[in-house]
Amino acid sequence: MTALTLSTAAASGLRADAIVVGVAKSDKGLVVAPGAEAVDKAYDGKLASVLETLGAAGGEGEVTKLPAPSGFKAPVVLAVGLGPLPEEDEVFDAESLRRAAGVAARTLAGAKKAAFALPVEDAEDAGAVAEGALLGAYSFDAYKESAKDAKNAKAPLAEVALLGTKPRDKAYKAEIERATALGEELNRARDLINTPPNDLNPEAFAAVAQAAGKEHGIKVQVLDEKALVKGGFGGILGVGAGSAAGPRLVKLSYTSSKADKHLAFVGKGITYDSGGISLKPAGHNETMKCDMAGAAAVFAAVVTAARLKLQVNVTGWLALAENMPSGSATRPGDVLRMYSGKTVEVLNTDAEGRLVLADALAKASEEEPDAIIDVATLTGAMVLALGSRTYGIMSNDEAFRTEIHEIAEEVGEPAWPMPLPSHLRKGMDSATADIANMGERMGGGLVAGLFLQEFVGEGITWAHLDVAGPAFNEGGPFGYTPKGGTGSAVRTLVRLAERTAAGELG
Ligand code: BES
Ligand code: ZN
Ligand code: ZN
Repeated sequence: MTALTLSTAAASGLRADAIVVGVAKSDKGLVVAPGAEAVDKAYDGKLASVLETLGAAGGEGEVTKLPAPSGFKAPVVLAVGLGPLPEEDEVFDAESLRRAAGVAARTLAGAKKAAFALPVEDAEDAGAVAEGALLGAYSFDAYKESAKDAKNAKAPLAEVALLGTKPRDKAYKAEIERATALGEELNRARDLINTPPNDLNPEAFAAVAQAAGKEHGIKVQVLDEKALVKGGFGGILGVGAGSAAGPRLVKLSYTSSKADKHLAFVGKGITYDSGGISLKPAGHNETMKCDMAGAAAVFAAVVTAARLKLQVNVTGWLALAENMPSGSATRPGDVLRMYSGKTVEVLNTDAEGRLVLADALAKASEEEPDAIIDVATLTGAMVLALGSRTYGIMSNDEAFRTEIHEIAEEVGEPAWPMPLPSHLRKGMDSATADIANMGERMGGGLVAGLFLQEFVGEGITWAHLDVAGPAFNEGGPFGYTPKGGTGSAVRTLVRLAERTAAGELG
């Protein structure tokens, strides 16, 4: 994991592989962003014009490398685009800083040390640069034997010095600590998502949670198949019935002696979604190891809350199962008796996420938390609606939905509020059971949300985040987002816990 340091050092004297500077787009062409004045001066104030000659324009995601000025200990200057220059009385927003830092860190993979001379006005800006650098410096090479050969190895950038920051300032130090805990746990969530499903089944995921619980003082309880049968978790058992690897329900409890609020996070943890007997066609199952991204996000958020010692109680519920077809699998037409006592007719075994979540939501409701938030790669319909970078927010409380939307915006996780139109409920009427696990095809993401709502305890504030689009990046890397598992919703959950701890939540 990349080490971060706060530094007041001059760029010229730093022993590093590269100095990173920010450039922005203005009406008058490219400009060098604040923080890099000394570097620009060493080029006789010509850095902007040199970069323009090299074709740079300052756009987001752009990188230009050039030899460092004479007298510099570092050999290279890397100019990274920040996008448009802010208006005169404004500063670069946190997301531009995160993205630029992420692009720089990713570009510098294989290097040992870089000094970032980016526009940092205050501790919060330093936190944004730190977060972007840590999230950008991610790679998943655990299964690449070729990468273990030193010649081919491109290890993530090992160290980042944040220039122009205050090493002894409490606020700066707190931001670095926060970014480090969040960055490490979010990257761990990405690792879990990227781990192939033959190595990460429900039992293995539960073991990872138990180990982390020990390390960070979180109480972890694992319900195995026997306990699930005893408890009557028909939804989780029904989905796991076809797999040789049995399902689990994991409860992570982080408690603070100073807490007066309690949040429950619930994650969909299908370690592989083949569709079950309603088998997915080829072309739709190659990335379905990502179907536990919700549980990975919940796990990472609870551990981060514990590491930051937030003054709020946070319970994480990981609903883990592998959805496979076999002679013991649930069939379309079967009826499951759920934990809540409701019966569900399974019309499509590929709509399995809502079944495991229903049990976990009902169980989480028993503790009457102040709010429940579930995270799930739930529907292809949400990807059709919002694309691959934006998650959908549904809720039984409009103010809460707005709050989550604001938080998502603040942390740099694009999201959009979606409705739960009650007329779609009747499409799930079943001739045999209380409800079917499928309804109208149109608005499929909202239908899934309405199904979940039935299992949330009376009077409990609840939000559902459908992250099927942004959880797994099938395209190339961008900003601080790598290819593969992204860690979507981790930062929303952590900020929600922070706001709740600070008493800022309704
Ligand atoms: N895991 C999928 C949803 C998904 C799709 C996640 C694409 C990530 C990317 C989910 O279990 C599923 O298969 N949903 C079905 C529901 C349908 C059968 C009602 C879907 O969306 O097609
Ligand atoms: Zn499915
Ligand atoms: Zn699924």
